[in-house]
Amino acid sequence: MRVVVLGSAAGGGLPQWNCGCGNCRRARAGDPAVPARTQSSVAVSADGARWVLLNASPDLRQQMAATAVLAPPEGAPRGSPVAAIVLTNADIDHVAGLLTLREGQPFALHASARVHAVLGANPIFDALDRARVPRVALDLGRRTPLSDAAGAPIGLDVTLFPVPGKVPLWLEGGRAEAELAGEEGDTVGVEVTDGRRRMLYVPACARITPALADRVRGADLLLFDGTLWDDREMIRQGLGPKTGARMGHMSVGGPEGSLALLEGVGARRRAFIHMNNSNPLLAADSPERAAVAAAGWEVASDGQEFRP
Ligand code: MLT
Ligand code: MN
Ligand code: ZN
Repeated sequence: MRVVVLGSAAGGGLPQWNCGCGNCRRARAGDPAVPARTQSSVAVSADGARWVLLNASPDLRQQMAATAVLAPPEGAPRGSPVAAIVLTNADIDHVAGLLTLREGQPFALHASARVHAVLGANPIFDALDRARVPRVALDLGRRTPLSDAAGAPIGLDVTLFPVPGKVPLWLEGGRAEAELAGEEGDTVGVEVTDGRRRMLYVPACARITPALADRVRGADLLLFDGTLWDDREMIRQGLGPKTGARMGHMSVGGPEGSLALLEGVGARRRAFIHMNNSNPLLAADSPERAAVAAAGWEVASDGQEFRP
C-alpha cells in the first residue's frame, strides 16, 4: 500500500494568508526549518495506478500538480488515476477541493450519510454531475470495498468510524457551544486496508475513546490530528479567541494530549497531520518536535510517502 501526503497543514495552511505568527513569518521567509505546507489530504493506492484521496483540500489543484503519480495517464486526452474520494467531515479544508474536480471526470464520492446530507444541501456541489460522480454513503463501522465511478473495486477496503468532533465551523449558525458536538457521522476517521496492511487517517478528533484506542492498536500506519500542541496556543499567540476544544481538536501535548493518551497503543508507524500554523511542532528546531520524535512520532510533511 502506498500513502502519499498531499498536504499536512490544518485549514489556512502554512503560511496562512493573513497570519503573522512566528511559524507563518518563518515559512514566508523561506526558513528551511519551517517549510510551507498545504492543507491536509492524503492519497492511498494498492497498486500505484488507481488512487483514492482522503479529503479534497482547497489546495488540491496545486497538490495534484506536484504529485507525479496523480498525473493523467499517457496516451489519453483526458483521464485521472484518481478513482475515488473519501471525506472525513464537511469542513471547508476537506471539501472545497471537490470544486476543483469539476471537469467531467468520473470518480466515486464516498462519505457518511451525514456528510452527504451537507453536500446535498449545497447546490454548488452539483458542479460534480451525479451521473459521472456517484455519491456513495458508507455505513459507519462497516468494511466496504472501495469502488470507482463504474462500481469497479480498486483493491482497497475502507471503514469509516465515528470519532468525537464538531459540526463544521461554517454550519455552527450561532449554536451554543454545548450543541456543537454534532451527531455520529459528522466527523469520522478512515481505515484503509489492502488486505495486508492497515492505515488510519484521523485529521480531526476531539477525544480518544476506548473504541478509537482499540482501532489504533496494531495499525501499520496512523496519521492523527496534530492541529494544536496546546489547547490555548492560539489565544496565547494573539491569533484568536478559540481553544482547541472549542474547535473540536484535542491537543498533542499535555497530560490530556494525544501523545500521552496514545502512548503504548502501538501503531507501528505514527505521524501527526493537519497541524495548525500556530503549532510549534511545525518548526523542526522546536523542543516540541524533539519531544514527539523521542516518543516515536513523526510530523507528516507535504509530498512524504509512507509504504505501510
Ligand atoms: C477545523 O479543522 O477546525 C476546520 O478546518 C476549521 C475551518 O473550517 O477553518
Ligand atoms: Mn480542518
Ligand atoms: Zn500563522
